[in-house]
Amino acid sequence: MVSAQLPADPCIVLVGATGALGATVLELIVEHRMRHREIRLVASARSAGRRIPVGGRAETVHDLEEFDFAGADLVLFCAGEEVSRRWVPVAMAEGALVVDASGAFSSHPEIPLVVPSVNDRLLTERPAEVVAVPSGMTVPLTVLLHAVERWRGVRHAVLSTYEAASGLGHQGVDELLDGAELTLSDPGAELPADRFRPALAFNVLPAVDRILENGASRQEQRLVQEARRVLELPDMDVAVTCVRVPVVSGHGATLFVETDAPVDRPELVELLSSLPDFVVHEGEDLGSAPTPLTAGDPDRFHVGRVRVGPHTSRGFLLWLVFDNLRAGGASTLLRIARIALASRASGERPKSLPR
Ligand SMILES: NC(=O)c1ccc[n+]([C@@H]2O[C@H](COP(=O)([O-])OP(=O)(O)OC[C@H]3O[C@@H](n4cnc5c(N)ncnc54)[C@H](OP(=O)(O)O)[C@@H]3O)[C@@H](O)[C@H]2O)c1
Repeated sequence: MVSAQLPADPCIVLVGATGALGATVLELIVEHRMRHREIRLVASARSAGRRIPVGGRAETVHDLEEFDFAGADLVLFCAGEEVSRRWVPVAMAEGALVVDASGAFSSHPEIPLVVPSVNDRLLTERPAEVVAVPSGMTVPLTVLLHAVERWRGVRHAVLSTYEAASGLGHQGVDELLDGAELTLSDPGAELPADRFRPALAFNVLPAVDRILENGASRQEQRLVQEARRVLELPDMDVAVTCVRVPVVSGHGATLFVETDAPVDRPELVELLSSLPDFVVHEGEDLGSAPTPLTAGDPDRFHVGRVRVGPHTSRGFLLWLVFDNLRAGGASTLLRIARIALASRASGERPKSLPR
């Protein structure tokens, strides 16, 4: 096992390095010049031996089945729930700090589920061995609700999402593009529908992930549970509908929040503008509202169409757009990793491994 004190230049292992999220994490590690003494790339046997450029060097992709986590300080899991369930305990047993983006541990009572600027004190109060990264949509939702709760009180919130194909990784994007190309060349063609059912090209799907017995989709249930957990409001009244749209990348959402006290629009805009990593787009014409293709800074959350009334003054509506791979995924994951690393480097190592 490694010691409690983590080095300033950690050895980073990226599991899922060839995937949509993993590639974005890698891109940001290089772009932000995140300090490390070594970076090891891991994926499935399908990608083993591939060479991927990382900041001017070509790194080889290792097969997870044969990978040795010994010596790793920080392991980032971006390879799906099944992989995380099996391999997170293995990485932890070697003493590495694990940051998991798969959602596998988002309801585990002993594993902190962290949204930076909302509840990252969980990491500073008690250094963690493994940290769960919430769904990309949970991040802006909780940052917004956290601020509004302290400002005017949240009575009820309704979120409707418009989620892009890249939320399902490379295969989701490939299936959308293949379906679109096929439809354009032959409008009657039967489209591939392995990742999305029915096919997503030129379509809108009224659920993301499978439908559960209670009628909610898995993604809807996850968002509600994660938001309540992060905000420590177990009874928060929040209704969510998740919809998949034929957009390659960039999630959208509308949010209605009913508040306890009346809302003044200029004050609301000021509040939203003060949130870390949020940009408020103001303007009368539709072209000023952010969209997945035009929002701008991919590491921030973009808000537009902020409306108070006309039906109620106790609440507001807004439109939200963000890059699910950057702002919602990789940026959040790396911010959590930095906070958790700093906390572990300065604090006591936890005594037991949560299972
Ligand atoms: N896409 C997003 O917007 C987003 C945002 C936040 C979180 N996430 C989460 O991040 C994870 C990855 O999503 P993604 O969109 O990047 O998917 P993806 O593009 O399909 O990538 C999956 C990655 O996992 C690897 N992998 C799959 N099965 C494996 C196995 N048995 N052993 C080792 N490696 C394996 C793949 O390696 P090969 O290339 O070798 O197959 C690839 O590197 C998921 O848990 C997802 O929920 C995604």
